[in-house]
Amino acid sequence: MKSNPISKSYLYTANDNAPDIEIADLRRLTQLIKEKYNYDFKDYAMSSFKRRIKRVIDLYKFKTVDKLITVLDTTPDFFEEFVSEITVNVTEMFRDPTFWRVLKDQILPNVLMNHDSISIWHAGCSSGEEVYSMAIVLKEMGVLDKAKLVATDIDSAIIDKAKRATFPIKNMELNSKNYGRFHDDATRTLDGYFREANGEAILNPDLTKNISFRRHDLVQGGIFSKFDLVLCRNVMIYFNQTLQNNVLNKLHDSLFKYGYLIIGSKESLIWCEIANKFIVVNNEEKVYKKIKD
Ligand SMILES: C[S@@+](CC[C@H](N)C(=O)[O-])C[C@H]1O[C@@H](n2cnc3c(N)ncnc32)[C@H](O)[C@@H]1O
Repeated sequence: MKSNPISKSYLYTANDNAPDIEIADLRRLTQLIKEKYNYDFKDYAMSSFKRRIKRVIDLYKFKTVDKLITVLDTTPDFFEEFVSEITVNVTEMFRDPTFWRVLKDQILPNVLMNHDSISIWHAGCSSGEEVYSMAIVLKEMGVLDKAKLVATDIDSAIIDKAKRATFPIKNMELNSKNYGRFHDDATRTLDGYFREANGEAILNPDLTKNISFRRHDLVQGGIFSKFDLVLCRNVMIYFNQTLQNNVLNKLHDSLFKYGYLIIGSKESLIWCEIANKFIVVNNEEKVYKKIKD
């Protein structure tokens, strides 16, 4: 990570007494960011975006939104760190284990029945746990060599972290537990998929070789390829409806006809503009199939 002159208060605790942030403040902030850095946060869901901004103001002891705006305007090196702080990167391997079972038993066999290869896009991949879970499933099915996996995120620092394929060893307990639930066998663990060094779990290199990581912004970025599967899980929950519609259009255009779109377990496609271009494959696991261009 680049060094920058802005120091963080590492003894951060949420400060309920921090001044409230007005909508006009957020508007000035998002406008400056758009003009100076060409990132567009204006249609992020207001309440969570406001919470994250408040957190940054507390964390760096800026006191006011104006101070944050000035720092962003005058210190370009700080911007990358700012993006990392306002995005929510929470993730885990085999998150929602029952989804991974549906993927292994139904979706992947269906795609591979008609194709020799498979292309998968993980949009909003965070630190990579989701794409590495996919690599493990494909490896266990004996089809990893036929797969092309692309994993993207708006946050460059988290992409760098994902590329390292190295996770805190303490996280592997939950990751392994999810994996056991995915296999419906609590005795199965991820132990064979990583080695331990200096308190970290380093994934086996064969899991990483078919994955390409890159920075991509779902809001400002275009469509860059077509895929058999697109996973965009727990990303659009941070967007308002206008932006969800905009992004869902891009995800639709990034899929081959009869390709699959998978969103987060608490999200839905039913209400959106392009709902009629998909059919529901599995409502619990939020798996949809594109049926119209
Ligand atoms: C909560 S994580 C989800 C990670 C993973 N998909 C999962 O479900 O566990 C949300 C990710 O979306 C990314 N994100 C937010 N806005 C984005 C945008 N405009 N374009 C691409 N990624 C974005 C964040 O940086 C974050 O890493």
